[in-house]
Amino acid sequence: MNFRHLIDYNDISGEDWAMLIDLANDIKKSPNRYTSECKTKVMATLFYEPSTRTQLSFQTAMLRLGGQVIGFSDPKNSSIAKGESLRDTIKIVSGYADITVIRNPIEGAAYAASLYSTVPVINAGDGSHLHPTQTMTDMYTIVREKGRYENLTIGFCGDLANGRTVHSLAKAFSYYKNNTLYFISTEALRLPQYIINLLSDSGNKIYIVDSLEEHIAAFDILYMTRIQRERFGSVEEYEAQSGIYILNSEKLKQAKDDLLIMHPLPKTDEISFEVDDDPRSKYFEQAENGLYIRMALILLLCENYGYKITPPVYPMPQRRFCSNARCISNHERYLPEKIKRSGSGSLCEYCENTVLN
Ligand code: NCD
Repeated sequence: MNFRHLIDYNDISGEDWAMLIDLANDIKKSPNRYTSECKTKVMATLFYEPSTRTQLSFQTAMLRLGGQVIGFSDPKNSSIAKGESLRDTIKIVSGYADITVIRNPIEGAAYAASLYSTVPVINAGDGSHLHPTQTMTDMYTIVREKGRYENLTIGFCGDLANGRTVHSLAKAFSYYKNNTLYFISTEALRLPQYIINLLSDSGNKIYIVDSLEEHIAAFDILYMTRIQRERFGSVEEYEAQSGIYILNSEKLKQAKDDLLIMHPLPKTDEISFEVDDDPRSKYFEQAENGLYIRMALILLLCENYGYKITPPVYPMPQRRFCSNARCISNHERYLPEKIKRSGSGSLCEYCENTVLN
């Protein structure tokens, strides 16, 4: 396997992904064969942000592999409340655990954690940026239901500006060709430009549109998302955006018989209750698939890195700053400069926003 940490789904090679799918299928078919695979392993779950599904599915995954789980789900009960840096927390936790799962509201936090960890780090969501294990769950569900990642027409609908599940999943499609991707949102909640650029360069057709009704008939997959209430500055701003896109049985009359309806969950009002009973809705199966693919991921990362790795020491140069106030590099000021070239500009490697010189 060629990746040590899982920070971005796009870190995984096609070969490694095929191996993960095979393993998840086998775990799903014969779970009893895997009950002691991680018997001596400890997983730390560091959740700085609320989570139900992701945290529980990670914890269940490790317990079903025979391992143990430590961690917190409320940073108020940990040393972070005393002002401890992310770097110190990660260094300490890597001394206790064999694998660390981190969710943090700040963009790029998981990548920053991976710079200091001696054990594999899994990004369980970094602010509005990425959510790679949700993408693994989604891609696993897509291949099980549709059997392919190409020649698909997919609609992404809802909060495309703040939804990290959409960012990760849309980015994943830059690996594949000949798809037609519709991004349906209000003007204020459009997909970030860096993802549009990535997709435009990769041989997929992209449409940025306002209406779900007008395009639903074309879709093989519809990926609905909630408006991310917690990412808005005020209740008024949130309310101006909520309730605009609602999938109901009326709209679904126009859709294909084999449409695959997906949602990362939790859902609020963007899917009417009657849609849950439509056989095309697969979001509950999707959530269950998340358990098997996370078991496969934990197992492979623990097997591959049963030894500690010494991270390099990072010098502290005078550095350029990221323009994104929600980027970890603006919160934890000891972090080294991490910049990558992209087209004619420079992107911050922590959060993928542009960099100020
Ligand atoms: C998502 C998340 O946390 O980004 N939930 C999840 O992990 N299944 C989606 C969301 O909160 O809207």
